[in-house]
Amino acid sequence: MDVFKVSGNGPLNGQIDVGGAKNAALPILAATLLSDETVTLRNVPDLSDMRFMLEILRHIGAETVQPEPGVWKITSKKITHIAPYDLVRKMRASVCLLGPLVARMRKAEVSIPGGCVIGPRPIDLHIKGLKKLNCQVEISNGYVHVDASEIQGGPIFLGGRSGSTVTGTANIVMAATLAPGTTRLECAACEPEVVDLCNMLVKMGAKITGIGSPELVITGVEKLHGCEHSVIADRIEAGTFVIAGAITRGDVTVKGIAPKLLGAFLDKLEEAGLPMELGEDYIRVLPYQGSLKTVDVVTLPHPGYPTDLQAQLGALMTQTEGLSIITERIYPNRFMHVPELQRMGADISIEGPSAIIKGASKLSGAPVMASDLRASAALILAAFAAEGDTWIQRIYHLDRGYERFEQKLAAIGAKIERLSDKDMPKELLED
Ligand code: EPZ
Repeated sequence: MDVFKVSGNGPLNGQIDVGGAKNAALPILAATLLSDETVTLRNVPDLSDMRFMLEILRHIGAETVQPEPGVWKITSKKITHIAPYDLVRKMRASVCLLGPLVARMRKAEVSIPGGCVIGPRPIDLHIKGLKKLNCQVEISNGYVHVDASEIQGGPIFLGGRSGSTVTGTANIVMAATLAPGTTRLECAACEPEVVDLCNMLVKMGAKITGIGSPELVITGVEKLHGCEHSVIADRIEAGTFVIAGAITRGDVTVKGIAPKLLGAFLDKLEEAGLPMELGEDYIRVLPYQGSLKTVDVVTLPHPGYPTDLQAQLGALMTQTEGLSIITERIYPNRFMHVPELQRMGADISIEGPSAIIKGASKLSGAPVMASDLRASAALILAAFAAEGDTWIQRIYHLDRGYERFEQKLAAIGAKIERLSDKDMPKELLED
């Protein structure tokens, strides 16, 4: 199994490019099932999650062709309505198949995604939305069974206990594109990835207004056609690289991202006093002396502070003089990285949904375990600020969402190597 060996190596310097967004590409790949014509997608990141989704699409009957890296041509002439457990269990986001199958096939049988370390991830809102579209929905044998023979557009309020749902919104929008009548979707998610999906659906002939707002109006059409679409940049990957520059006091230009996609995040870094230069499609982190200022953060749906950049900011705050409080409102247990940061010497305590971080801590390299995608990124960022070597195991979590992570960072001076766990000192290996 692969591991990362990371050593603190002083300031990072240079330009680092951002790839396509995982959380846009996943529902967009699923949306290709809505038409029997070819959809050409560009800027699709090369990630294990993408490979899982493409495998499921092929299993369902889609033809997938990759003419060049990052480009996929997908044609779904004849498809089945079943997404089996043995494929769906590999990746939660395959729940995004529900909407397109319901719309195109008027029925669906999709395995319910399993548990997740970052916290409970129910799909009750997805089901509520489908029922509001006059679908018969039954849960049995671990599957969601949907009969959409009488599907009909209508008013839906899709808000839950922590506000809007990203893939829930994606599913209901996709289901409504081919449903007779008009669907008025309130408390819709406004994440840039949902906007990107809606923009592609419009290119396929869907009728959607209010894109980017909490109220989407979808007027059903008879049929959708093929299109060409380029996936938006990955704002979470970009934010992770910004923190890499900040935690090493480097001069790093994160290229290929519009700063406006990261409003709340950049606002917090500005509040912390991080010197930055913002351009049309780049964010430049500039060197600074001394300590940044601590900030308090509460994660919220977009345009609030993104939960997927919570752990990374936590790593930075361990290096900041003073007390910061990070409150997780989306996934209250999303602090799996904290015990590992504590093993590196960070002073963090968890009080309910909040991490209380006392800084600045002198971090030292240690063997640590990645538990989920963003937690693993935070451990690597902390390792850049630590004395000595940090060995990070279970990095398959990171490969799900970061393309060529270590190559990109090594190119701007990071000391990070992908090795086999056989190269690790035996006493450090997990049993
Ligand atoms: C998406 O997950 C992202 N994944 C997540 O990114 C991200 O953390 C999350 O949105 C929030 O921004 C993809 O887009 C593939 P939600 P999703 O439905 O859609 C509750 C990463 O690191 N909820 O918006 O599954 C839920 O429990 C991943 O890239 C219900 O209660 O998240 C959570 O507390 C991790 N019932 C909140 O809403 C529902 O039916 C937001 O979840 C659905 C959700």
